[in-house]
Amino acid sequence: MSEYKLGKIIFTKEEIENRAIEIAERISEDYKGESVILVGILRGAVIWLTQVLQSIDLDVEIDFMAVSSYGDATKTSGVVKINKDLEGSIEDRNVIIVEDIVDTGVTLAYLVEYFKAKNPKTVRVCSLLEKPSRRLVPVKIDYLGFEVGDEFIVGYGLDIAQKFRNLPYITSLVE
Ligand code: IMP
Ligand code: MG
Repeated sequence: MSEYKLGKIIFTKEEIENRAIEIAERISEDYKGESVILVGILRGAVIWLTQVLQSIDLDVEIDFMAVSSYGDATKTSGVVKINKDLEGSIEDRNVIIVEDIVDTGVTLAYLVEYFKAKNPKTVRVCSLLEKPSRRLVPVKIDYLGFEVGDEFIVGYGLDIAQKFRNLPYITSLVE
């Protein structure tokens, strides 16, 4: 039996998929005539990235990075470690960082600076979720799925200690 208890569904699969289509259409419009690279931040952003990707009508590539700032706890440590780096060059390319959730903003602020140092043409951010109430570092999210409150979220790629990534909806942990 799981030690975790889940709350009600916050966003259904259908709501998330519809939002992914809307965002992909905006991206296709914003970068019309150009190519983009979506850089998914492993592992939480994988499902969201594949959803957005499939509705982008552009010359699009994907790459991935793995970073950790969390361990298995529910509080950020403020330290970002790169566990897997980009495979391709992003020099002079349009990069869209694809995240699962922006919480304190520590991870994303670090990644944006890391990417900018590699001389891309543009860097933007697409995140499935954000928790505005917990922001410590200011970061701009160009393409946002949904805002959530100060709760620990799981499902649709997001985990706690590697569990619940497979849930086809977004929910939260309850005490
Ligand atoms: P930040 O650096 O505090 O913004 O944290 C970002 C990372 O922490 C996200 O990419 C997630 O991997 C993880 N994270 C933050 N909040 C949650 C949550 O509610 N559920 C699951 N993972 C989370
Ligand atoms: Mg993450």
